[in-house]
Amino acid sequence: MLTEEQNRRLTQVGAGTPMGDLLRRYWMPIAAEDEFDRNPVKAVRLMGEDLVLYRDMSGTYGLVDRHCPHRRADLSYGFVEECGIRCNYHGWHFDETGRCLEQPFEDIANPEAHFRDKVRINSYPVETKGGMVWAYLGPRPAPLVPNYEPFLWKNGFVQIVFATIPCNWLQCQENSIDPVHFEWMHRNWTVRLKGEAGPYGKKHVRVGFDEFEHGFVYKRLVEGMEESHARWQTGRICLWPNGLGPLSHTEYRVPIDDDNTLSVTWHFSRVPTEREPYVQTTIPSWEGPIRDPRTGRWITSHIMNQDFVAWVGQGKIADRTQEHLGTSDRGIIAMRKRFVDDMDRIARGEDPKGIVRDPAQNVCIEMPIIDRHYYTEGLPIDEMLGDPAFDPHKGYPFQIGQPDSVRRAYMEAMGLDPDKVIEAGAEFLSAAGAKTSRRIWV
Ligand code: FES
Ligand SMILES: [Fe+2]
Repeated sequence: MLTEEQNRRLTQVGAGTPMGDLLRRYWMPIAAEDEFDRNPVKAVRLMGEDLVLYRDMSGTYGLVDRHCPHRRADLSYGFVEECGIRCNYHGWHFDETGRCLEQPFEDIANPEAHFRDKVRINSYPVETKGGMVWAYLGPRPAPLVPNYEPFLWKNGFVQIVFATIPCNWLQCQENSIDPVHFEWMHRNWTVRLKGEAGPYGKKHVRVGFDEFEHGFVYKRLVEGMEESHARWQTGRICLWPNGLGPLSHTEYRVPIDDDNTLSVTWHFSRVPTEREPYVQTTIPSWEGPIRDPRTGRWITSHIMNQDFVAWVGQGKIADRTQEHLGTSDRGIIAMRKRFVDDMDRIARGEDPKGIVRDPAQNVCIEMPIIDRHYYTEGLPIDEMLGDPAFDPHKGYPFQIGQPDSVRRAYMEAMGLDPDKVIEAGAEFLSAAGAKTSRRIWV
């Protein structure tokens, strides 16, 4: 149980708050590259700051203040130029470093004043990796965007999936170190949602948590599982500071502001070995709904939608003065403690946990990944078919709302008939519960 003050320190993300300053030390994925093929300018809100992300006609990304420094027009209605973005109100023009390149009327009427050299717009560094666009709002020099090994894997179909979650980021991230919830929220609840009374999934009998450079691993033993099992030996990853992964599927909980979170999922599907060499030309992105418009209730059919129900159900900002943590929550306690220690570290002028600055280290950051060989070496299609985790006909089980165009592109990448599909979600989970797949990602 925390005090109100402790809860505030851990959850608030504005500039100048302890957690806001800590999170600003990390790169955050805030968009997907393919969005800028459709529209080169996007309004974004990140850690309470209203910004505009654009890709200019030369392909350079920029992230600048939402409001023009002239008379505060909304730059998300601006338009891109060969270099930079131009305000649609009076045409002031800025590049990605925040420099004002042009003030059309001032440049004609009063050129000797060099007014444009006296005006800048706030700007932040932007990078791309894995089809995602990353932003850094912290002090310079910026660290490197960590090059975790899945970003280097080949022969995969990647998609990026968003959802806007109306609650604070920390309760989403605490879910990243909570192994027991899978048994109840995903397996058993899914059985009940289908109107069945059982059978339930195997009970957790032991959980363990270990810290490593880029986060924590959480480990589980369920009934009948030996300690030699990969889920105990290797575990799954709570990625620092705001991710969850087996990393072939990484979920980021990106703070929009204190009350809202952008869920960003990077999902890699290995194509069958028969399809090699497969090169994906465009990484598609899509945003799924979280509320059922017919009932106004949260959607419960897919794995992450179920997680979203837990997160928003805890309130806008979970009241941690009222909780009762048990043995299963040791990982959550360790994570909170690490965040508090990191706040002290940055106050001392040190880097917090997991920061990567060494280009040699960043060539490829190896991570603890169960069944890595499946992703790096792949399987023939015959071995994928029928497996609850990897049968491509199961579609995308994590989040509802995958556009048909993405499903078709995925099926074509897999070398399968796009018109044959089995509904994802509940079906996937019941299959996963019924047949204990060696490879299921939980
Ligand atoms: S408000 Fe942007 S150019 Fe005038
Ligand atoms: Fe979950």
